[in-house]
Amino acid sequence: MVRYGHFDDRTREYVIDRPDTPLPWINYLGSEEYFGLISNTAGGYSFYRDARLRRLTRYRYNSAPLDVGGRYLYLRDDTTGDYWSPSWQPTRRELDEYECRHGLSYTTISSARTGIRAETLYYVPLGETLEVWRVAVTNERDTTADLSLFSSVEFCLWDAQDDATNYQRNFSTGQVEVDDGVIYHKTEYRERRDHFAFFACSEPIEGFDTQREAFLGPYRGWEAPIAVERGSLSGSIAHGWSPVGNHHVRLSLEPGETREVIFVLGYAENPRDDKFDPPHSQIINKLRVRPKIAHWLQPSAVKAGFDALTRHWTALLGGLQVSTPDPDTDRMVNIWNAYQCMITFNLSRSTSGFETGIGRGMGFRDSNQDLLGFVHIIPERARERILDIAATQIATGGAYHQYQPLTKRGNNDIGDGFNDDPLWLILGVSAYLKETGDASILDEPVPFDNAPGSEVSLYEHLIRSLTYTLDRLGPHGLPLIGRADWNDCLNLNCFSETPGEPFQTTENVSGGQAESVFIAGQFVLAAKELASIADLRGLGEKAAEYRAAAEKMTGTIVEHGWDGAWFRRAYDFHGNPIGSGENDEGQIFVEPQGMCVLAGVGLDDGLAARALDSVAERLATPHGVVLQQPAYSRYHVELGEISTYPPGYKENAGIFCHTNPWIMIAETIAGDGDRAFDYYRRINPSARESISEVHRCEPYVYAQMIAGKDAPTHGEAKNSWLTGTAAWNFVAITQWILGLRPELDGLRIDPVLPRAWNGFVATRVYRSATYEITVRKPIGVTGRVTQLVVDGSPVDGTVIPPAPAGTTVRVEAVIG
Ligand code: BGC
Ligand code: NOJ
Repeated sequence: MVRYGHFDDRTREYVIDRPDTPLPWINYLGSEEYFGLISNTAGGYSFYRDARLRRLTRYRYNSAPLDVGGRYLYLRDDTTGDYWSPSWQPTRRELDEYECRHGLSYTTISSARTGIRAETLYYVPLGETLEVWRVAVTNERDTTADLSLFSSVEFCLWDAQDDATNYQRNFSTGQVEVDDGVIYHKTEYRERRDHFAFFACSEPIEGFDTQREAFLGPYRGWEAPIAVERGSLSGSIAHGWSPVGNHHVRLSLEPGETREVIFVLGYAENPRDDKFDPPHSQIINKLRVRPKIAHWLQPSAVKAGFDALTRHWTALLGGLQVSTPDPDTDRMVNIWNAYQCMITFNLSRSTSGFETGIGRGMGFRDSNQDLLGFVHIIPERARERILDIAATQIATGGAYHQYQPLTKRGNNDIGDGFNDDPLWLILGVSAYLKETGDASILDEPVPFDNAPGSEVSLYEHLIRSLTYTLDRLGPHGLPLIGRADWNDCLNLNCFSETPGEPFQTTENVSGGQAESVFIAGQFVLAAKELASIADLRGLGEKAAEYRAAAEKMTGTIVEHGWDGAWFRRAYDFHGNPIGSGENDEGQIFVEPQGMCVLAGVGLDDGLAARALDSVAERLATPHGVVLQQPAYSRYHVELGEISTYPPGYKENAGIFCHTNPWIMIAETIAGDGDRAFDYYRRINPSARESISEVHRCEPYVYAQMIAGKDAPTHGEAKNSWLTGTAAWNFVAITQWILGLRPELDGLRIDPVLPRAWNGFVATRVYRSATYEITVRKPIGVTGRVTQLVVDGSPVDGTVIPPAPAGTTVRVEAVIG
């Protein structure tokens, strides 16, 4: 049992007590337009809105060590010449004490060495496009300490892709200005960019550097900059090469004295016709940015900004708080899982320690699913997000698989043809309606492919999504899979033999009729949701039509999608089943078991229960439910990327965590609270904290994957943070296991709890009313709510109609 830290639930922090975590353990800064990542050793980078197109600082992916580039500080004892990094990296010189606290949108790193303590707080103030680093240095010696403090960032030349590849150009373009101790990064400002970065310091500076070579010295890295070793900066001005920002502050501290130094790194834009001062010069007009810098360099402003951030998070999380018999559940629901949902809202899958922010913008299906996890926290922004996503839909009803957050345009590199994507829009919108009751969104005019003049109502978009599937049915009457469905590694029309060919976009054969049982299940679910939405609009006939379509597809699934003991996964190009007992490998897949049961398929005829038993028998492991079995032992050209991964990794029989909550939900629908909760705990990162040496990723957030039982590293997590796992687990635990489920006509209270529990209490804000909920159940009992009392009066059923905004509703539910 190895831990690298512990949870501090009171302060809503994860406290890391040694710097050498198995992987960089990351946190995110920023919540609106300016974002950054920060590791427990101050690695990471920042960007404005778009991780690819407006990157402020450099970070080196796939580097050794993993986490290179960051918000680095150096402390130097000017008497002895000894120097170190208070965040351990990049010097990695031994610290006498070390502690990193990752909190909600901030991180503090504290350490001590030779009697010098440093504590740095990093955060992005609300409403600002800048970040603050507040460093408090304390002399704990009994003699005066003469110290130097150096700051260090390496600027990215804005477009992160170009920055990392186009050296013939960008070794010559880098430009800076230094004015009044503030370092301005202005590469390309002379021409088509109207934005720049600034890096300021609250103290009078002894010196600065802006050319990387001058700071580091030839053949040196960040672990041993020559300027730090020497104890002085050289006042270099970057002309081309690699612009950096370094300040030098001298501190002479009496015994017991603490000094606070504030650094501010930020992004600013100027109007094009007012970008230079004087107007015909090439000098940045700093009129607008100077007051901002001056403000944020004041300790009182930094304190107030931090308090505001804390209040902001308290308000965001306050909408749902639970107290259950399981601390790991409470901590995830109340703090970390909700937090992770907000981060995926901000960034989709675009940028993390493992996603470079270059290749992928916002996913269409991903963003729709992320919505499920944050719609109750920030409904107005969910509304805006839905309209942005829908505006990238194509007139056929199809959808770009991704779009760029800065331009909000569909990403042509990947294009469309992922046949599940459009259906997720229906599920996202339906979640929004259930949470907010705001049916006005359905009438919003939304264009296709962002083309002005093409606007139709959002409701019409939903209809197109549904017909998109109906227009594309295969020989068995199941939906065609296109380039891939949810499992974007199942590339059934691809047949790639050429290294490097993209599996997702290559279609080098034609005439394929590959079909997806997963999309079929998803269609049933979406059609039922759309039917309820049609009812809401008084379109009873349409509703009946969608229900009939759902019914028909259900029949098709039962006829062609059932394999005897579980749901099949698909039919390949040639019409052979995938995920069937007929296959040698990949006989059973998790996705259709989850999605079909979620859609209500097989509930009356025992198929659902049988399928879930098969999952338990064949797919469940102590570390979670694997994606399929048996793993593919070799490359199957007819299946594509899924069979490129060695057994047990990623979609080839890894525990692809996103799918696990579908099974948890399916289990609650089938009424098995023990199994549902057991699956929940198996991948709950907090519940896995005590096996951190196996799990290796952060114990406070979900990772995309945990290596499956066929992998030599079974139980090892990879690619943390940006995954649909966050939203779906949140939905599984809060809406299905705890059973606090928004519906179109009110809040349903329908917990399906493990036998070992005696109930739980919760506070849930729903449509601006506060529900104080108590659920009671004798230990050892399972079952559904037998009695529901609302404000003292028993009610029928389990749905509580929306209460007037601002009121408090007391709910008591009894099970068994
Ligand atoms: C990965 C998927 C990912 C996809 C899209 C694949 O290589 O395995 O998990 O969603 O690429 O970028
Ligand atoms: C990650 C992608 O972001 C998501 O869209 C996909 O569904 C899963 N991988 C499964 O392949």
